[in-house]
Amino acid sequence: MRPEYRYALMNTQTPHPPVLSMRNISITLGGRKILNSVSLDVERGELKVLIGPSGGGKSTFLQCMNLLVTPDAGSVSIEGASVNPHDKKALCRLRQDVGMIFQDFNLFDHLTAVKNVAIALRRVKGMSREAAEERAMHELGRVGLTDKADLYPAHLSGGQKQRVAIARALAMDPKVILLDEPTSALDPELVGEVLAVIRDLAKSGMTMIMATHQMDFATALASEILFMEQGNIIERGTPGSLLAPDSATRTRDFCTRLADM
Ligand SMILES: Nc1ncnc2c1ncn2[C@@H]1O[C@H](COP(=O)(O)OP(=O)(O)OP(=O)(O)O)[C@@H](O)[C@H]1O
Ligand SMILES: [Mg+2]
Repeated sequence: MRPEYRYALMNTQTPHPPVLSMRNISITLGGRKILNSVSLDVERGELKVLIGPSGGGKSTFLQCMNLLVTPDAGSVSIEGASVNPHDKKALCRLRQDVGMIFQDFNLFDHLTAVKNVAIALRRVKGMSREAAEERAMHELGRVGLTDKADLYPAHLSGGQKQRVAIARALAMDPKVILLDEPTSALDPELVGEVLAVIRDLAKSGMTMIMATHQMDFATALASEILFMEQGNIIERGTPGSLLAPDSATRTRDFCTRLADM
């Protein structure tokens, strides 16, 4: 079959391409192979959870998904369109489509909560100050922080800072949100409020990929768990299949040891 026909056939068979598709992503950093031809498709409304030992490549893989890190090989596609990492406009669009939540919040210390959310709306979407702040207030309301809008990060708890970061990501109307251990820098009593916001997002149909070791959360909500080690996805499956009491999976073994820590 001629290649162009094969392509046309592929398109008719997949009318809804994955929201985000990572194909054969490889990267070497500091002379070490960090990701070894890793692939992942995320469908609309899914929550994929990445787990695995420290240094396995979870953060690097997440950073490749919005091209904060440029892989040496492989492709990133949004809704079927591949993104050229050297095209600045395409990168700017990608960063709007793919929101990112980091472990340590990454807020601007000199801006209030509402201005932290509004700034990208003004700079990237070109909104007026009034319109941007109105939208920012709406997003702060979604994460339960209306009454903290005028506070600076120094006067917010870790859980509140992380919720501001989530509001900031939501304000860009992302197609998918990446979360890199969003609760691991928090005091234990603050973890629940952030997980509750993420749970509500998942239930509202937001597409997300999250590195986390919060296994109760992952078990309840993940559409799929991916276990990463030494730059490879070595196991993947539903929480039920990977974590069932009788399953002899690397994932279950790892989670049992996490729970004993
Ligand atoms: N810029 C870099 N230069 C050299 N090595 C790097 C760089 N960034 C990451 N690495 C290495 O890549 C490997 C994977 O790191 P990564 O942060 O992706 O792992 P991780 O699974 O997120 O770990 P953790 O659970 O500790 O967050 C580690 O060995 C790390 O030291
Ligand atoms: Mg990490």
